[in-house]
Amino acid sequence: MAAVTRAHWEKELAQLEAFLKAHPLAAASDLAALDELRVAVLGRSGSLTSLLKALKDLSLDDKKELGPKAQSLRVDLDAAIEARKAELEAASDLALSSEDALDLTLPAYAPARGRVHPLTSTLEEMTGILSLMGFSWAEGPLAESDDNNFTKLNIPEHHPARGMFDTFYLENSPLLMRTHTSPVQIRAMETSRPPLRIMAPGRVFRHEAVDATHSAVFHQVEGLYIDKNVTFADLKGTLDVFMQKLFGAQTKTRFRPSYFPFTEPSAEVDVSCLFCAGSGCPICKHSGWIELLGAGLVHPNVLKAVDYDPQVWSGFAFGVGVERIAMLRLGVKDIRAFYENDMRFLEQFDENLV
Ligand code: PHE
Repeated sequence: MAAVTRAHWEKELAQLEAFLKAHPLAAASDLAALDELRVAVLGRSGSLTSLLKALKDLSLDDKKELGPKAQSLRVDLDAAIEARKAELEAASDLALSSEDALDLTLPAYAPARGRVHPLTSTLEEMTGILSLMGFSWAEGPLAESDDNNFTKLNIPEHHPARGMFDTFYLENSPLLMRTHTSPVQIRAMETSRPPLRIMAPGRVFRHEAVDATHSAVFHQVEGLYIDKNVTFADLKGTLDVFMQKLFGAQTKTRFRPSYFPFTEPSAEVDVSCLFCAGSGCPICKHSGWIELLGAGLVHPNVLKAVDYDPQVWSGFAFGVGVERIAMLRLGVKDIRAFYENDMRFLEQFDENLV
């Protein structure tokens, strides 16, 4: 800038003051307009900045007289700009929060965690115990052959025992929906040589009227152990430990004679009532016992059907309902609650997915 005279300097200052009067900072309509004003006056080549720089061309006396004027104008302007800026920012925050705008100060939503279905956690608990006892995992299809579901399990066609297991038949297919996990016994024995020890968890089907304790679709865990000289004592010992791990060390078992075509002898196994410890209550119908599973020693005809020599090999098998165990352990009164997917029910069981 060319050297300036005092008169020129004073004229410029007067112009600036007039400009500020015409464009008061307090009236800047938004932050952008305010910043534009700030740059025009206080920016690197703003009008006040230029005046301050030009002071160096004036005489010492003029400097002493005019310098403080320009300086105090600058201090006032700085303060006014800050004040207006704060006002505008507060107003824009208010506008944001009064619309449906994002409020970044709100705490975040907690992420929704998945849960293990109570039937799944019960099944995992059961198979976890059995696998520690040496049973390995085995599976079979839900749509099963008549042979595996019935005939090879010593339930020939037209045998009245088929009435215990009424099921669903598939159209245009010889297959049927398996009525129990016992056909996995046949599959496991046909695909490996003895000795063997398997557990077969899975879904099964019965043509049944649905009520609080019956479902046409439910789950079982099958156990099968084949070796030399397997006795009823092995079965008893195994189920005692299984039930004690599941329901607590004080649990007792009771074996009642029963009938299954694929085991001989056969038994219904009860456990001492978990609710009254055997003294009698409404849940065990005052008997002290709760009926829980079917079991027995593998029938020689079943061993023959899979080409195991019944003179050499013997074994035990058991089948237990998962829903029944889950209902007892969790205090669920109606089996249908497991299948309705009502979150109010499912959320009561707090096993989280990790
Ligand atoms: N399969 C039988 C049922 O579903 C249970 C069972 C399995 C009984 C193994 C004896 C041996 O009722």
